[in-house]
Amino acid sequence: MSQLYKPLKNKFVDIDRTDESAVLAALRRKQLSGTADIVAEFEQAVASYFYSPYAVASCNGTAAIHLALLALDITAGDEVIVPPTAPVMTVLPILLANAVPVFADVISDQNFGFDLSNVQQKITPKTKAIITVPMWGYPMEMSRLVVLCQKKNIALIEDCSQAHGTKMDGKYLGTFGDIGLWSAHDRKLVACGEGAFMVTESKDLSEKLQEGRAFGRVIRQTRKLKKYPGQFGVQFGLNYKIHALGAALGISQLKKLDKKIKIRTKNARAICAGITDLPWLKEIEVTPGGVSNYYALVLYVDPEFASGEEISRKLLAQNIVSDTLEYTYCPLYEMPLFKKFAAKCPNAKRLTQRIITIPTHEGITAEDIQHIIAALKGMS
Ligand SMILES: Cc1ncc(COP(=O)(O)O)c(C=O)c1O
Repeated sequence: MSQLYKPLKNKFVDIDRTDESAVLAALRRKQLSGTADIVAEFEQAVASYFYSPYAVASCNGTAAIHLALLALDITAGDEVIVPPTAPVMTVLPILLANAVPVFADVISDQNFGFDLSNVQQKITPKTKAIITVPMWGYPMEMSRLVVLCQKKNIALIEDCSQAHGTKMDGKYLGTFGDIGLWSAHDRKLVACGEGAFMVTESKDLSEKLQEGRAFGRVIRQTRKLKKYPGQFGVQFGLNYKIHALGAALGISQLKKLDKKIKIRTKNARAICAGITDLPWLKEIEVTPGGVSNYYALVLYVDPEFASGEEISRKLLAQNIVSDTLEYTYCPLYEMPLFKKFAAKCPNAKRLTQRIITIPTHEGITAEDIQHIIAALKGMS
């Protein structure tokens, strides 16, 4: 009987001695809450990595999206444009804010960037924000979207939870919009266990994010607020602070980000090089001018040959797990919770049906790469 290969999933918790020492040192400082000094140190490290003037950490990516919406004053009935190729976590906070998710199509069945003409059709006087979601770390066109947002006075939020270090036109994704944010969940390229960080170029927004994550306690010195310095109960906020130990991990993980991207890129290239003779399979488009972080390798399956799901199921039989199968990837509005926001997004529909993901993480060995290539070749 043939032995089942070890499971190859898009998850690898890369904890080494540096991470262990960082957490131990933080423990010994005996400041464990989200107001610990180490949180500000993590924020400084994030700001400096992303060349951004302000960074604010939070307890998870979902909370960070909610914080961004709060900071941008998005309230009941406001509309937020999102791609249906995003995961549920991007859209749940919109519901929490009593705002309305409006789905606009992606540009093709091989690119997670917005189709700008479709976005334009979806803009109404109620549109307050647009959220971009570069899935699996793939870059997307940003400059024309930024211009559109500026022209229409719409806030731009970049949910880069899967795109740590992804670049477009030489600039990090997450630094194009009003607020960029990254999850730091276990699976992510900067892993705090649970955690997140945001960047912005606006002092006002950075203070609003800080207020929102700590019960609304007043920081800003606006005309209305300056009579309440440091006070609670003046404005709304929640407890979305990051734990000090998560922040300590964040600092040591951020130092390894470039190395991780290099490894993942090398693994992705090796897999792509091994499948060049498969006419039905290729990497999806990497937007010209962009560089992926290869959070995972995304492959496009020729629909004449098979569906993405069929290939994913065959891969699963070889213990290679595609995220698309693991998370029943489909346009979000096909899920019961979002059905009432359904829209026609044919590119997103085709994309979700045609792609598969392949793990590229630091735990993948040369033998694993051969196993992946052989499994894909075996389907021809
Ligand atoms: C694109 C995207 N947005 C948001 C989130 C939510 O992040 P978290 O799990 O830290 O709440 C995730 C994480 O899974 C994600 O991949």
